[in-house]
Amino acid sequence: MKPIQTLMLGAALAALGGSAVVQAAERPLRPEPAPAQASDLPVVAASAQPERIILNLTADPAHEMAVTWRTASGAAGLVEYAEAEDGPDFVQKAVRVTALTDDATIAVREEAAFKAAYHSTVLKGLKPETVYAYRVGDGQRWSEWLQFRTAATTAKPFTFLYMGDMQNNILSEASRTMRMAFRKAGDAAFVIHAGDLINRHDSDNEWGEWFAAGGFLYAQTPQMPTPGNHEYGRGPVLNPQWRRQFTLPETGPAGVEKLKETAWTVDYQGLRLISVDAPLFHGDEAMRAEMVRWLDGLLANNPNRWTVLFLHFPLFSVDPDRDNDRVRKALKPLIDKYGVDLVLQAHDHGYARGAIGAGAMTNAGPGHTSETGSTYVVSVAGPKMYPVAPLSWATRTASRTQTFQTLDVSPEAVTYRAFTATGRELDAFRLTKNAKGVTRVVTLKAADQGR
Ligand SMILES: [Fe+2]
Ligand SMILES: [Fe+2]
Repeated sequence: MKPIQTLMLGAALAALGGSAVVQAAERPLRPEPAPAQASDLPVVAASAQPERIILNLTADPAHEMAVTWRTASGAAGLVEYAEAEDGPDFVQKAVRVTALTDDATIAVREEAAFKAAYHSTVLKGLKPETVYAYRVGDGQRWSEWLQFRTAATTAKPFTFLYMGDMQNNILSEASRTMRMAFRKAGDAAFVIHAGDLINRHDSDNEWGEWFAAGGFLYAQTPQMPTPGNHEYGRGPVLNPQWRRQFTLPETGPAGVEKLKETAWTVDYQGLRLISVDAPLFHGDEAMRAEMVRWLDGLLANNPNRWTVLFLHFPLFSVDPDRDNDRVRKALKPLIDKYGVDLVLQAHDHGYARGAIGAGAMTNAGPGHTSETGSTYVVSVAGPKMYPVAPLSWATRTASRTQTFQTLDVSPEAVTYRAFTATGRELDAFRLTKNAKGVTRVVTLKAADQGR
């Protein structure tokens, strides 16, 4: 049956006569309906079989690993683990630990009283630079044996991945970026997510998409998220799954409950990685003061060669109309004072990268590009796109481009590469430090530069 508007317009054009009627009638007159969001559908019940299994780093990544998963309500939570071996004999050597289980009823967008059991544990006393195998279950239903590698205790080369907003059509369209990232850097030590992992803060189905997008990769490579505005509801209130489904380091400002597992820091093989809770930094004056105090301490007493700060709201945006003045004014002086090497961000749904020297405090304007300042990046992994304006601060920009980033860290250098969702190299640069500790940025020839 033809849509009624087609028939009406067809009749109107018929009055004008001729062949236009045929062409017009064959063309859809209304835009295609927006695809249904996962959060518009009935909630998917938690399964008896362990699901949404994820690793997170703790504050001691050479000796510990956090494991979290969920099941249907009522199930026990057990983890078995052993040092992995080349053959199957490790299975007999596995030890069993009981996880913490939070058998919860939470209000999610799709259901007012959603039930699931969230299980988590931190495996402790592990050997550095060692592959472990583990499985999770209730004693009868088990996951497959999964593997991870612990960190070294010293500064040694490693790679990590950085993803911007996945947020929209997470499984259908953002997953290809995540999966291409793992094809390029399958041995990544961990993945950072710079916020807006999902679109509707209280949706459980969207979290289901997010977990499906990474699948077993999340159970083998620690995922290290910072929240975006889409992880917060009005209040602001953090979505009810965040602290249940992740076990992030409680290394934020001491004693500040609101920032637990959203503002955190980890030292990994010569790199200090810091997550700033951008929504609370922007919207809550007391939390901003707490985080500034905490950051000042973390940056002043930092034995690591490299420092990466990551947060959802960009200090320098891809469009001058999207200005985060309050965040920039509070963070930029600290970044400049302590020479933070990289600031990795998201939120603007476009790509931009540039180094910005001390003193540059406006979002737009001349004279921003520098070879020795901190490097700021904005990127997006999912399909939602905003325009990217011509930018005085950026060395490289890209519109309507889904990307992921690999960062190869060693005591000598950090080599950064941005790739598109098809695996094409879009941008590359290298950071080195001189004898005084000043970081220098050199743009590398990426595969498509000069086009
Ligand atoms: Fe976003
Ligand atoms: Fe955002």
